[in-house]
Amino acid sequence: MNVLLIGSGGREHALAWKLAQSQALDTLYAAPGNPGIAAHARCVDLAVTDHAAVVDFARDSAIGLVVIGPEAPLVDGLADTLRAAGFPTFGPGKAAAQLEGSKGFTKDLCRRADIPTAGYVRCAGRAEAEAALVPFGYPVVIKADGLAAGKGVVIAMSPAEAQAALDAMFDGGFGAAGAEVVIEEFLSGEEVSLFVLTDGTALMPFGTAQDHKRVGEGDTGPNTGGMGAYSPAPVLTPALAARAIAEIVAPTVATMRAEGIPFSGVLYAGLMLTPAGPKLIEYNARFGDPECQVLMARYEGDLLALLLAVATGTLAAQPAPVFVEDPALTVVVAARGYPGTAEAGGAIAGIDRAEATGARVFQAGTRVEGDRLVAAGGRVLAVTATGVDLAAAQAAAYRGVDALDFPTGFSRRDIGWREMARNSKR
Ligand code: AMP
Ligand code: GLY
Repeated sequence: MNVLLIGSGGREHALAWKLAQSQALDTLYAAPGNPGIAAHARCVDLAVTDHAAVVDFARDSAIGLVVIGPEAPLVDGLADTLRAAGFPTFGPGKAAAQLEGSKGFTKDLCRRADIPTAGYVRCAGRAEAEAALVPFGYPVVIKADGLAAGKGVVIAMSPAEAQAALDAMFDGGFGAAGAEVVIEEFLSGEEVSLFVLTDGTALMPFGTAQDHKRVGEGDTGPNTGGMGAYSPAPVLTPALAARAIAEIVAPTVATMRAEGIPFSGVLYAGLMLTPAGPKLIEYNARFGDPECQVLMARYEGDLLALLLAVATGTLAAQPAPVFVEDPALTVVVAARGYPGTAEAGGAIAGIDRAEATGARVFQAGTRVEGDRLVAAGGRVLAVTATGVDLAAAQAAAYRGVDALDFPTGFSRRDIGWREMARNSKR
C-alpha cells in the first residue's frame, strides 16, 4: 500500500520511521516532509492547504492511507476532503477537530457530558470578560479560544496580569484565535498526557507521556512546543489511566458520536492529576510533538495496519498495542533564540555519530543547503533513546545529544527530572 504522510516535524519523522517498518508498505510519500523523513519517504512539495492538489496527488499516486500529523490541516478540514474523495484518512474532520481548535467547544462538551475539568466561562467581548473575571480568585487562567501554537494561554497571578492578558487577546494579537476567550479556574497538580486511538466508537489506549513545556531547566522561562518527553509516565498509574479513560475520554468519544461528529484519530488528553482525580486541561486532535517520538520508540506493532484500522472504522478488531517495557526519553535540540526568533542556518553535523551511540535522531526543523544540513526552525532535532530504566534512557539520550556538532543549538539538560526526583526518594 502507498501511504501519504502530511507534515514536516519531528513527530512526522517518528511516524515515517515506524510506518517504513511495515510489511504492507509499498511507497511512503511525505508532504512536505524534511531531510530526516526523506530517509524513509519520497518528499513531495505539495501545499497542504490546497486540498484539491492533495486529492489529485493521492489519486495519481494510488494512496491507500493518508496520515495527517499536525493540527492545522485537521482544523482546516483536510481529512473531510480526503474522505469525501474516497481516501482512508487518519485524523479527525474539521468538526471533530474542534476538540483542539476551540477551547470553548471542548469546555461546553465537558459540561454536557459531565467530564471533570476546570470551571470556566466563555467570553466573546472585553466587557463580558471583565465581568466574568470577578468571581474567580488568583491565579486565574485566560485562554484564546482558537489555535495559537501553544502561546494562547496566560496564567494570571494578579488582576493586573489578567487585564494585560485580556488586552493582548482582544487587541487582535492572536488574530481570530483571540476573538473569544475562555476564563478558567486554575488547577494545581502534576500534568500528564494520555493518548487514545479511536475510530469514533472503539477506544484503544496508546500510552502515556510527560512533556517539558518550558524552555529552561527546572521548568522555567517561556512556554515552547515541548523541549523533551518521556514515556511511560508512571505518575499516571494504570488505575488513574483507567479512571481518566472512563470519566474523560470515553464520554468524550460517546458524546461526539451521539452528536453526529464522531472523532476518528488520536485523542491526546492533557490531564491534571488533582487531589480530586484526573481533570481534563485540554485535548489535542493529533499526536504530541515530541511525545510521538517516545511513543514510536516503544511501539512494537505494525503502525500502518493500526492507523488504517482507525481510518476505516475497524479498530475494535485490532489486538491491544504492544510497547517495549523499557522507557523512552527524547531531548529536543532547538536553535538559539527559540521560542523567540530562532537562529536559522546553523550547521548540524554528527547525526551519524549520535546514532552510533544507540540514540535515534528525529529531525524537525532542518534543511539541506548544498551538502550540509542546517537548522531551519525552532525545534531542530529530537534525540531519542530507550533504556532499562528512565535514568538509563536519559543517559543514552544525552550521549546522543553530546555526540552532535550543532554549535547554534541548545537543549535542556534535565529532561525527565520529575520522575528522576521521585525515583531518588524511593
Ligand atoms: P493548554 O494549551 O490548554 O494545554 O494550556 C497550556 C498550559 O497551561 C498547560 O499545559 C498547563 O500547564 C497550563 N494550564 C492550562 N489550563 C490550566 C488550568 N486550568 N490550570 C492550571 N494550568 C493550566
Ligand atoms: N508537546 C505538546 C504538544 O504536542 O502539543
